Amino acid sequence: MKIDGKPYRTIWLAEDGWSVEIIDQTLLPHDFKIARLTGLAEACHAIKAMQVRGAPLIGVAAAYGMALALRENASDDGLANAATSLMATRPTAVNLRWAIERLMKALSGVSTGDRVATAYALAAEMADEDVRLNQAMGAHGLKLIEALVKTKTAPGRLNILTHCNAGWLATVDWGTALSPIFAAQKAGIDVHVWVDETRPRNQGASLTAWELASAGIDHTVIVDNAGGHLMQHGQVDLCFVGTDRTTASGDVANKIGTYLKALAAHDNNVPFYVCLPSPTIDWTLSDGFKIPIEQRAQSEVTHISGLTEAGTIETIRLTPAKSPAANPAFDVTPARLVTGLVTERGVCAASAEGLLGLFPERRP
Ligand code: MRU
Repeated sequence: MKIDGKPYRTIWLAEDGWSVEIIDQTLLPHDFKIARLTGLAEACHAIKAMQVRGAPLIGVAAAYGMALALRENASDDGLANAATSLMATRPTAVNLRWAIERLMKALSGVSTGDRVATAYALAAEMADEDVRLNQAMGAHGLKLIEALVKTKTAPGRLNILTHCNAGWLATVDWGTALSPIFAAQKAGIDVHVWVDETRPRNQGASLTAWELASAGIDHTVIVDNAGGHLMQHGQVDLCFVGTDRTTASGDVANKIGTYLKALAAHDNNVPFYVCLPSPTIDWTLSDGFKIPIEQRAQSEVTHISGLTEAGTIETIRLTPAKSPAANPAFDVTPARLVTGLVTERGVCAASAEGLLGLFPERRP
């Protein structure tokens, strides 16, 4: 995607040929800064502190983190330590495990002297692959948008609601849930996006809104509780969300609050689609409630930061100092509430049969 006319991905190899550069997402939308990662500790911090975030990007960041770690120690111990440290950064997005397992498998038969080069090559391949999958997913999601535009009885733009940030910042490029929206814009379709602010980290208000504004796509930021009301009043035609882990039976873990949107969509006959590249499918799990849910710091709920009139970024307390807070970061939407899964291979029912129809090689 382009920022001020310059094309960017969210992660890339620096000009020195070994360090890794990322867009520091903790500073957006107020500041666009590049951060440089030079070792395992910095890679782990970038994922944990959410300088990089979003399931597909977490996976690719972990792959580059493995490459950086192997520069420090390419022995078997170094490899195992890198895998354990990166795996512990964030528990819900399965792309992290997928990326680390793929690297471990590729590196198992490789001599210590060749491990660094192999890891960098595979990380770059995974980054390119993510871009391809997301673009393909966007083309399939576009077909859903086009079909819905044809059935609209009242003239006017198509209103799409999305939750959290599932745009290009959450991936290497294109995004998941926003990929069909970028494709619709290119196809000249008049879309408007309702952007859930997505407390507590506000990925919608800060990141999705920034992406859509940068791309010139019409959008409106709403508080998380507004979606149900808008659906009741016919102001949402379609929901597109991403996912951090989808089970083999189609249950969907995504940013906290997704489940409530799915319930409201179900109650109001609004199609609710989940967009996911296949590395986000956990083929080892059938029960969504077995997905580990990340519990994040209370301070993300009790405090908020933003830009002051004076142009500085400040953090303020919202809650009484004596009130504790709980901060589960994800929830699980059962498959029965999901209209369909949009993948790089097409759209399927949120069910074991639906997924196996698109990925027959996964049949036991
Ligand atoms: O906690 P985050 O910001 O990493 O959560 C991101 C999301 O929940 C996205 O919607 C998700 O990763 C799926 S789409 C890339």
